[in-house]
Amino acid sequence: TRPLKVALLGCGVVGSEVARIMTTHADDLAARIGAPVELAGVAVRRPDKVREGIDPSLVTTDATALVKRGDIDVVVEVIGGIEPARTLITTAFEHGASVVSANKALLAQDGAALHAAADENGKDLYYEAAVAGAIPLIRPLRESLAGDKVNRVLGIVNGTTNFILDKMDSTGAGYQEALDEATALGYAEADPTADVEGFDAAAKAAILAGIAFHTRVRLDDVYREGMTEVTAADFASAKEMGCTIKLLAICERAADGASVTARVHPAMIPLSHPLASVRGAYNAVFVESDAAGQLMFYGPGAGGSPTASAVLGDLVAVCRNRLSGATGPGESAYAALPVSPMGDVVTRY
Ligand code: HSE
Repeated sequence: TRPLKVALLGCGVVGSEVARIMTTHADDLAARIGAPVELAGVAVRRPDKVREGIDPSLVTTDATALVKRGDIDVVVEVIGGIEPARTLITTAFEHGASVVSANKALLAQDGAALHAAADENGKDLYYEAAVAGAIPLIRPLRESLAGDKVNRVLGIVNGTTNFILDKMDSTGAGYQEALDEATALGYAEADPTADVEGFDAAAKAAILAGIAFHTRVRLDDVYREGMTEVTAADFASAKEMGCTIKLLAICERAADGASVTARVHPAMIPLSHPLASVRGAYNAVFVESDAAGQLMFYGPGAGGSPTASAVLGDLVAVCRNRLSGATGPGESAYAALPVSPMGDVVTRY
């Protein structure tokens, strides 16, 4: 069988780990897919940076030329951000490749258009890594629970803020002190705005709500409140009430079934609730559905290796589809079901 060719866009914390595992697990991946997978090119911004284990002849700064090559089976996009990722992904579809992406901001903003572009070209778009790192959520919601009716998805989908809130709760530290520690330990970015103001969690909530309810929810539809105003005094009050405080993403189907809501804000949780015991930078997501009842997904929601695990799972799935000529669920999986039109998506608190 011919090898399947993979182009990697981005070689940072996640990308370099994807490349490393593709090499070290090459035999296992080939056995699972039914054909070898070959790293055919790696697009980076800074070519002079030393990248251990990556053949320098594969490295290019011209990502556009790489996705236009025409012989690439799968493009793995781990650049993040809206552009140039969006244009590169659509160009990849037009030139015969399927796409695996970890890009939550892009999927939350343009998921429908990107899926439509994949469908038009008969290609796959998989993005398990976009929400909660290694934790399987997209495919369980999209596939395992496709015959059930999901009513609510709620959880902790940002590791940085959970680390900060956990620190405040367990040590009585103030927000700034806990943030400084998160930064020192490498959890929080130099600019932690996306995490602490809830944008990161809101993008994940939009993606989860869309998939769970077979509709389209964009970042703008999500009510968002960050956790920068939570104080040590709030934790003391919460404790008196037998609660703790978590930054939650909550996606719900309205009782009448006609609309969905998605919101991100700090919330009090009784200490007896399983989400209260999610410590450190971990993530956990609760799913409530008609037939399955309550499910909880828990694990590392960020970091190079866990995120690479999700990317590689998608890579295997997409490669299998390439070989069988199938594609995963596309935009029609949303359009075919009775869904709430975008106008019905309301937010409330
Ligand atoms: N900044 C994110 C977090 C990374 O802390 O969860 C994963 O999206």
